[in-house]
Amino acid sequence: MTKCAIVTGAARGIGLATTDLFLKEGWQVAMLDRDGEELAKVAGERQNVLPVVRDVSNPQDVNAMVRETLDWSGRIDALVNNAGVAEFGPVADHDFTMWRRVMETNLDGVFLCTQACAEALKETRGAVLNIASISGLRASTLRVAYGTSKAAVIQLTKQFAAEFGEYGIRVNCVAPGPVKTKLSMAVHSPEIIKAYHDAIPLNRYGSEDELAQVIVFLCSEKASYVTGQIVAVDGGFESTGVGLPALRV
Ligand SMILES: NC(=O)c1ccc[n+]([C@@H]2O[C@H](COP(=O)([O-])OP(=O)(O)OC[C@H]3O[C@@H](n4cnc5c(N)ncnc54)[C@H](O)[C@@H]3O)[C@@H](O)[C@H]2O)c1
Repeated sequence: MTKCAIVTGAARGIGLATTDLFLKEGWQVAMLDRDGEELAKVAGERQNVLPVVRDVSNPQDVNAMVRETLDWSGRIDALVNNAGVAEFGPVADHDFTMWRRVMETNLDGVFLCTQACAEALKETRGAVLNIASISGLRASTLRVAYGTSKAAVIQLTKQFAAEFGEYGIRVNCVAPGPVKTKLSMAVHSPEIIKAYHDAIPLNRYGSEDELAQVIVFLCSEKASYVTGQIVAVDGGFESTGVGLPALRV
């Protein structure tokens, strides 16, 4: 029996790296993304994948994704809720349309996909892995919508873990620090990149593969007694209070 993962936002970045690691470990992967062109390109270069061009914020799309995946693989062993959008700006620039754009993908999408996969995950006693952010663990400027959406994903992880535990479904969350992807590069200037290096004990950005390693581990049997946990994969950023560059030796 070949295990099957659904990875949302799989056309690039952390989602694509996660897809590749699942494939390397012998899983098959339903790759969901709303960017049909990019998804067709990367899915065409891989075996044992099902490209699913859908939007995680649309309930009809999400139900269709579950049907299409089950028709293809007959099972769902893991759901990785990775699709996300980053739109940053001062509170005054967050008109309601922007607020909703961030919430509908980052928060509604996680709720909809998890709810829709629940029956199939009960069958396999499978796992859900949500991608939050260090912006959901610590507040910052310019992220009133993004940070709030990610903090909500952290709470949603615990809610689902509490309710699904009796079915053997584990639900965990990875909170990435900065990773050089198209999403972060669109919003991180050279000054921001330098400031992140200064604030992170490991002194650098993470790689997509470093994220994928923890995501796939938490979805695997190796993590069979881990649920309801938030794991920051962030070079030490979250743990550091007085980490001022001026205090370094
Ligand atoms: N890159 C970072 O520094 C960083 C840091 C913290 C958290 N994260 C989180 O990690 C996740 C992945 O980030 P990334 O940097 O790889 O992003 P990315 O922008 O490179 O890739 C995200 C993918 O999700 C897809 N997507 C977006 N909205 C969608 C929707 N509604 N339905 C279907 N697909 C959708 C996009 O088309 C894209 O292919 C996101 O949830 C992001 O918030 C990233």
